[in-house]
Amino acid sequence: EQILLPLADLKGQRILVSAGPTQEAIDPVRYISNRSSGKMGYAIAEAARSRGAEVILVSGPTALIPPAGIRVVPITTAKEMAEAMSAQFGWSSIVIMAAAVADFLPKAPATQKLKKGTAAVPPLELERAPDILAMLSAKRTAQILVGFAAETQDLIEHATGKLTAKGLDLIVANDVTQAGAGFGSEQNAAIILSRTGTRQTFDLRPKSQLAHDILSAIVEFAKNEPR
Ligand code: CTP
Ligand code: CA
Repeated sequence: EQILLPLADLKGQRILVSAGPTQEAIDPVRYISNRSSGKMGYAIAEAARSRGAEVILVSGPTALIPPAGIRVVPITTAKEMAEAMSAQFGWSSIVIMAAAVADFLPKAPATQKLKKGTAAVPPLELERAPDILAMLSAKRTAQILVGFAAETQDLIEHATGKLTAKGLDLIVANDVTQAGAGFGSEQNAAIILSRTGTRQTFDLRPKSQLAHDILSAIVEFAKNEPR
């Protein structure tokens, strides 16, 4: 029988978590976004708080109720998320980027609502959004950096590539096509890879449980790789 004791293994840690989607304006009434519900990031924030950490949650628009005892910084766009994460980066000892950030955004959002009565279909020109993790990685001091990888194919290969390219300590790889897991679901499965080559597989389970598993993987990593 499993005995659950309250964990306090994150006491003294200052954890910066991002969650949810970003929204990038096309015009005043339309935007580009993605299917992120924010549930995974919110679950991580809540679990970290319950294990004794101080937590700041930078959140895109979600339908979720912010967990108690956590400072929430609401943002809408990728640029706003980049600014909020940068502003809190110096404070943090651990950064967990669970947000689904835009990769591309409309280059010149229309200042007035686009009207369908015009002769031509309006073109939508996109530009690159800032890569927040890569940006933070370039100016890290002693922070542990944890990313997510949302993949539809070649999970390990793509996740390993992101781990290296973004200079991360750990990456949580998600197959977003897996039934019952990922976007909007209450459950998720993941493979956690570390820069030292460790690999842990977590089968489908509640996001609240996976949140604790991710935090345990971080604690374990920090123990083996003191900074
Ligand atoms: N990420 C970020 N800034 C972005 C896009 C992504 O910080 N503009 C972060 C995500 O929060 C996640 C990690 O980078 O922790 C990987 O995101 P993902 O979308 O899986 O990978 P990308 O690097 O954006 O590459 P691609 O979407 O082409 O697979
Ligand atoms: Ca992306």
